[in-house]
Amino acid sequence: MEKTSALVFFVNGKKVSIDNPDPRVTLIQYLRRTLYLTGTKEACSQGACGACTVMVSYYNQHQKKIIHYSCNACMTLLCTLHGTAITTVEGVGSTRNGLHTIQNNLLKYHGLQCGFCTPGMVMTMYTMYRNNKMPEEDDFERALEGNLCRCTGYRSILEAFKSSCGRGKSCCMNTEKEEGIDINMADTNLRNINKDESQEVIFPNELQKESCSDIRNNKTSRVLVSCTGVSELKVMKQDENEIVFGSAVTFSEMEQFVLSLTSKDNEGTLVGALLEGIRWIAADQVRNVATIGGHVMSTGPHDLQTLLMTSGAILTFQSAGDKNPQVIKYSEDFFPNSFSSNSILISVRLPRNQKNEFIFFGKQPFRRGMDYAVVNAGLFVKIEEQSSRIKDMRFCVGNIESKPRYLENVTKKAVGSPFTEELLEDTGDVIVQELKNSRAKQLKYKITLACAFFFKFYKRLCELLQISEGGTFGLTPVHSTGAQFYDVPADDSSNIVWQPVPHVSSESITTGEAVYVDDIPEYKNELSLALVSSSRDHAKILSVDFSAALGSPGVEDFVDYRDVPGELEYGEFGPEAPLFADKEVTYFGQPIAGILARTREEARAAAKLVKVEYENLPAVFTIDDATEKENLFDFTNSTKQGNIEQGMTESEVTLEGVVETGAQEHLYMEPCSALICPKKEDKEIEIFVGTQDPSGLQKWVGQFLLIPCNRINIRVKRIGGAFGGKAIDIIPLTGITSVAAWKVNRPVRCIFQRDYDVRATGKRHGTKAFYKVGFSKDGTLNALSLEFYLNAGAIKGLSPMVLNQMMAGMASIYKIPHYSSTGHLCQTNIPSSTAMRGFGMPQAHFIIQSIMFDVSKHLNMPFNKLREMNTFREGDTDMYGKVLSDFNLVRCWEDCKTQSNFNTVEREVADFNRDNQWRKRGVAMSPCIFFFGYPPLSANYAGALVNVYKDGSVLISHGGIEMGQGLHTKMCQIAATALGIPLHQVHLCETSTHSVPHSMESGGSFVADLNGGAVKNACEKIKERLQVLKETMPNASWVELIKAALFSRINLSATGFYKSRDKGYDFRKQEEGGEYCMYHGYGAACTLTEIDVLTGEHQILKTDIVFDVGKSLNPAIDVGQIEGGFVQGCGMMTSEQVTVNPEAGLIEACGPINYKIPGIRNIPKDFKVTLLKEAAGGNKEVYSSKGIGEPPLLLAVSLHLALREAVLAARAANGLSGNYRLECPATPERIRMACAGPIVHKCHDVKEERKVIQV
Ligand SMILES: Cc1cc2nc3c(=O)[nH]c(=O)nc-3n(C[C@H](O)[C@H](O)[C@H](O)COP(=O)(O)OP(=O)(O)OC[C@H]3O[C@@H](n4cnc5c(N)ncnc54)[C@H](O)[C@@H]3O)c2cc1C
Ligand code: FES
Ligand code: FES
Repeated sequence: MEKTSALVFFVNGKKVSIDNPDPRVTLIQYLRRTLYLTGTKEACSQGACGACTVMVSYYNQHQKKIIHYSCNACMTLLCTLHGTAITTVEGVGSTRNGLHTIQNNLLKYHGLQCGFCTPGMVMTMYTMYRNNKMPEEDDFERALEGNLCRCTGYRSILEAFKSSCGRGKSCCMNTEKEEGIDINMADTNLRNINKDESQEVIFPNELQKESCSDIRNNKTSRVLVSCTGVSELKVMKQDENEIVFGSAVTFSEMEQFVLSLTSKDNEGTLVGALLEGIRWIAADQVRNVATIGGHVMSTGPHDLQTLLMTSGAILTFQSAGDKNPQVIKYSEDFFPNSFSSNSILISVRLPRNQKNEFIFFGKQPFRRGMDYAVVNAGLFVKIEEQSSRIKDMRFCVGNIESKPRYLENVTKKAVGSPFTEELLEDTGDVIVQELKNSRAKQLKYKITLACAFFFKFYKRLCELLQISEGGTFGLTPVHSTGAQFYDVPADDSSNIVWQPVPHVSSESITTGEAVYVDDIPEYKNELSLALVSSSRDHAKILSVDFSAALGSPGVEDFVDYRDVPGELEYGEFGPEAPLFADKEVTYFGQPIAGILARTREEARAAAKLVKVEYENLPAVFTIDDATEKENLFDFTNSTKQGNIEQGMTESEVTLEGVVETGAQEHLYMEPCSALICPKKEDKEIEIFVGTQDPSGLQKWVGQFLLIPCNRINIRVKRIGGAFGGKAIDIIPLTGITSVAAWKVNRPVRCIFQRDYDVRATGKRHGTKAFYKVGFSKDGTLNALSLEFYLNAGAIKGLSPMVLNQMMAGMASIYKIPHYSSTGHLCQTNIPSSTAMRGFGMPQAHFIIQSIMFDVSKHLNMPFNKLREMNTFREGDTDMYGKVLSDFNLVRCWEDCKTQSNFNTVEREVADFNRDNQWRKRGVAMSPCIFFFGYPPLSANYAGALVNVYKDGSVLISHGGIEMGQGLHTKMCQIAATALGIPLHQVHLCETSTHSVPHSMESGGSFVADLNGGAVKNACEKIKERLQVLKETMPNASWVELIKAALFSRINLSATGFYKSRDKGYDFRKQEEGGEYCMYHGYGAACTLTEIDVLTGEHQILKTDIVFDVGKSLNPAIDVGQIEGGFVQGCGMMTSEQVTVNPEAGLIEACGPINYKIPGIRNIPKDFKVTLLKEAAGGNKEVYSSKGIGEPPLLLAVSLHLALREAVLAARAANGLSGNYRLECPATPERIRMACAGPIVHKCHDVKEERKVIQV
């Protein structure tokens, strides 16, 4: 490469040269905002989601070959890329020149929904294939550990990628002939599969001539030093005494090197411990760039720090001007910050275990794959050859405190002792004593993990030494598989509906061409807005000082409440929330003002300089706090049937209990975003925003700005996931940005940073229910009384509607003659809880199933039998007076029982639990009912516009929002079917309030019904107008017909309108003769799970689902909704816990880095979905289909029930009989502590100073 001081690299084969680059700029900023390569998405900016994955290639001078690796562009500084070639999704394939096989397969296997994660997925797989011609089963899951998807449930993605390799059916090697392409690809199995030669990434010759090791940056800026290219720091060597790593060696390089040293059996060796340690650090995208030097020198606690301490690693430092290196043993006394800034860690030397020496390492994450350790631990043991006694022992534990701890008293206890059960027992006590004064949260759990690690290592060592049998620990290894079953009517071009056609935008999505709000190119005079928000949970605002911020570089202006021309407050049921807080803040993150600057970095930096003075007020966070202080909103509602007192008195048995579920964060992948463009004339304003409710937003913006709705055009192309979180929570963002744009009369864009998005927007309601149930000894339910509380947050918002829906959900499955339920809303100082997939129904299903579980255990009666005998039947009248017809719940249940082979599996589980001490299994089924159609009649209508153009192409518009649920695909299918034309002639551009006014909010899983009805209606009008012509030209093609129609002056543009049913319902009146929904959707699931008794970790071995979607409009899309919904529900049931820090007053989660949504490793290993055959009862006006989207999430209750069964098996093995309450989410900590046993018993007296506070 030509010698230059510029920063030089290639992007998709094109050379980029930058003089004086800014060292702060990241790769993603440069790709998106300078090169306008917006395919690479920015979802978290934390390195934790993989949406920004790109491939970096460089020529390795030592190995004389090109190295390709994946990395997260959001974590990569541009200046470190000198001499590399970057491939982004745009470089892999395009709609103009052809899709890559990987992209094509994602499309074919329906492996995308909202599409925001898709380019990252493509790049991860692309890189894997560049490096690995014949991946093994596990390689796929491993590669995808760093890529999160909130929509699909991963199964379809995994299958698409498996099929892209030499082993799959439609593998590139098998398809190359068929596709007839010939590309000169050098070093990969991707040869010949790319349709377009110009798209193929060929490593630039120029980069093969020089080692590209150094970094380049602006000499006037702060210096950026990176060690990654310094060959002396890249050393990896070993001999019989030690393994040495230069400090700039990455984890991936370490792993490759250590793998080359492996022998068959690494158990108990340094090599084995290192491999275990490296394997579970983050994911490939991080391991490929993170270095051992950075790991050691940054504040952890990090995994390998514990291993370094255990193995007695030696660190070598070199300071500038100092001839002699400083050599230090890694110990508790090591403080990275104690070294001067001109001192560099050169290498890490790990002593190898010698004869009679053993070393072990283990890590327990909260979620398997891409997660930090809850606790990690290492054990070093040296044995006295003659006596076989312990000569030396080091047991180190990490992640309990800020640095790993060496437990000295364990050494004292063990040295000189033989290997006995007593020693094992006594050491457990020592570990508890050593750690019990720590101030860590989850302290009891963490100590049990430390004891468990010691226990496992000790047992393994005894096995290696042939002293005693070791035992089987950890979860059973299994690979993922899946199947889907549905009927597709015979192919008939007049029926595009009912066909599993791919998502209509799938080509744009897989190529990264699909446009989301932040992908819209910048206007020349555009400004960025950053919010100034409350840093208190509850406080009076005393003063706000903008002066420092206004003097900051790039800042042009600010906005606050004084700039709102119209109404300051908004709210679902009347004004209740201020757009900007002026006198008081009621939750952390509440907007106070906005700063406008030229770039978003400048705006964000300046917003931090605004000084707000507060006077603190008392805050409450939890339902318990709120009920104790009587902080309740003035809204309650109840459902009553029969006479509850009489019912209880008459019941043979009564039982009381409490059921609780936590909040859930939406964690849609696209952060909340808005771009507001005031026009030059007539007070018009154009708004690009990711909203679920364009029409509602239009009204609010009009009221804030005091302009009529006909001047405001809200435009939504698509949203990168919403799940209810972009319904009303998008109002403040859009309102504030609109006020700002109005003030400065320039385009203004605001994109939430992930941590703010997570902390300051509403979540699913946490719920607590107190119940009393009365039943007969044979299990017939007679009476149920429920008092339940929702954590509504700071503002009432949608909570009354959620409460109503929850109340109806609880009453919907089981026949209970005497019934009473009353719901209350707690006012707390967290963001206002809001709509989230299921809208109160998941909590309702969880509560009612938990009660049934308790009853079945109380009666010692089979759980299924109890539920079967109490379930409503066809023809029954439910508690809201609806006569149940086409009541497919029972069919779903029975089919699911058969498909899952429930009875056999239940027996196998019993056998398994008898034979296994440290793993237990549980299996359980759960049913679900969902209501389609909003209760108030006024909310059940939709409009559409259909235009046929001169060439016969058709453009449809409707009021629904595409947010990944495949709505637009279904709408295009409906239009094509109604008009009788091929699908490709129909296009849907965007949702806009100028095309279709006053739409309903997209929610309730009823969007396809409403808008589908409207689209169909518009198409039928056009078809009817064409009918006369068609009769005169029976053989004319569609295009000929359209030409003739225009000649005959037939109107080829039609609006459509649809309103469903004639009766609505008011839950507060519980009125006779009303209809609270149009129809029901039904489903049933069976889940088999396994828990690790010693750690509380679980895996889902198998899930079978049977779901009633009527006559599915698109079975592939509906299966995707079922899988994705179920997996999101699994998160709610197990790993997604929303907690608050009461001192700081904030929600602790700040993004995927510490809020654990399910990853690829957490889905059912065997995942089967069947759409109920011949399912009657669908919406006849919309091709007999039913809604989908939200209800499958409810089926994840089966996972929680199965976990309860497994926990009960573990408790029984520990001598504890009877039922046990397992809270939701069933985190590893809760599962572990519930399993009980001797280790938990040892921690009985440990005091936990810092509690986890769940909301
Ligand atoms: C998404 C994500 C997930 C993660 N998951 C895990 C996990 O599961 N387990 C785990 O243990 N860790 C995890 N990590 C942490 C990761 O291991 C560390 O971030 C990483 O080791 C830091 O390495 P780096 O090369 O990026 O360091 P840098 O960020 O480049 O450097 C860190 C610090 O060390 C200094 N430094 C670097 N090299 C030297 C040197 N040679 N001499 C002196 N000072 C030096 C730097 O100046 C800086 O102050 C995760 C990180 C991310 C982003
Ligand atoms: S955006 Fe880079 S990892 Fe999430
Ligand atoms: S499709 Fe993966 S996040 Fe939406």
